[in-house]
Amino acid sequence: MGGLRTGFWRRPLWLALMALVAAVSPARSTPSGDVARGTYLARITGCIGCHTPRTRDGVLEARLLSGGDHPIAGNLGRFFPPNITPDQATGLGAWTAADIGRAIKTGQTPDGRILSSAMPWRTQFSGLTDSDALAVAAYLKSLPPISNRVPPPLPPEKK
Ligand code: HEC
Repeated sequence: MGGLRTGFWRRPLWLALMALVAAVSPARSTPSGDVARGTYLARITGCIGCHTPRTRDGVLEARLLSGGDHPIAGNLGRFFPPNITPDQATGLGAWTAADIGRAIKTGQTPDGRILSSAMPWRTQFSGLTDSDALAVAAYLKSLPPISNRVPPPLPPEKK
């Protein structure tokens, strides 16, 4: 009967071991995990600060990433940070996650434009890993779409 006893004890041990391996495994990139990391990155890398309307001491959380209301100076003029929620007409609704990741890291948009330095892709975001750029993209895709078109760019400020 010893065999039956070992069999009985082995199964829970085996399951416990598998649960432990699953818990400590670094390769747990479920979509929800990506969104959590993307949310974290979007805060600390400044996407939210630039691409959301400002209040006196922060941003308008109800209109998160629907476009900034302060123009940012860059090499080609002063650009309003666009709406990067998944709205079809005024945001990134038509962009894939890969499109978004590429734009963040290389400044290239799906329509072949190169983003100006008002969007700090060259100085900051080109250093993101592909998985972090895609995590940010997954987070943007998870946002509620908000309709808002930012104003066109302003000419460079006179020095
Ligand atoms: C310093 C302010 C600033 C920060 C920080 C910033 N952006 Fe931008 N972003 C801009 C501006 C300004 C533009 C428009 C640039 C242009 O059109 O040349 C832009 C453009 C974009 C575009 C292109 C959208 C379109 O419709 O063409 C995407 C996508 C984008 N940003 C995503 C992000 C993400 C994701 C982050 C965080 C990782 C981020 N941005 C951080 C200012 C910023």
